[in-house]
Amino acid sequence: MKVILSLTIIFTAIALTSTNTPCDHGALDIPDKWIDMVDSCYDQMKNQVQEELKASIQYLAMGAHFSKDTVNRPGFAKFFFNSASEERQHALKLISYLLMRGKLTTVSDLIKKNIVPKITIWHDGLRALKDALELEGNVTQKIQNVIKVCETPLRADEKKFNDYHLVDYLTGEFLEEQYKGQQELAGKVSNLEKMKLTHKQLGEFMFDKKLLEE
Ligand SMILES: *[C@@H]1O[C@H](CO)[C@@H](O)[C@H](O)[C@H]1NC(C)=O
Ligand SMILES: [Fe+2]
Repeated sequence: MKVILSLTIIFTAIALTSTNTPCDHGALDIPDKWIDMVDSCYDQMKNQVQEELKASIQYLAMGAHFSKDTVNRPGFAKFFFNSASEERQHALKLISYLLMRGKLTTVSDLIKKNIVPKITIWHDGLRALKDALELEGNVTQKIQNVIKVCETPLRADEKKFNDYHLVDYLTGEFLEEQYKGQQELAGKVSNLEKMKLTHKQLGEFMFDKKLLEE
């Protein structure tokens, strides 16, 4: 028993004083030829992560507004909270893409502190839907800018590196979702505007019920 106890103490002491733990691997030597995204394109991508997060925060504010007991439009609230989740998902997709390309070496400049909603007051649901459509138009334009820079980098030393894969991903996947989302929002604005023309405030009440069922 004493022998076991002493051995335990000795091994514990060795383990505690040893600095060479299996996790302490020092600097790594991984070839980096596969990491070919140029910096001006990378900067645009990081900026787009911010834009998606900004959109998410804006939708979160909209969802919260329509959830207030004094406003009480649960359908609009649900729709905007869902949109907030989708935007957060877009940010995550961009981050995953950067990881796949070996480009994300630090997260320190990925998420900025000053992300606040631009708009916090809405006269009614129609106004909020129109704001959302404008916001999506802005985001679409920003994605198009990322595509432009990643297709033809700004800096001469980046040797006009055309990032075919990223440009294809942004064009085929991101822009497609943008355009579909914009079409959906425009359709909603159209429906609600028509309902309000004939039914005034009751139109928005009924539209809210419809949003809740979707
Ligand atoms: C869209 O962009 C314009 C121009 O930058 C800006 O003034 C406006 O507030 C933006 N709209 C939304 C809803 O973010
Ligand atoms: Fe988005």
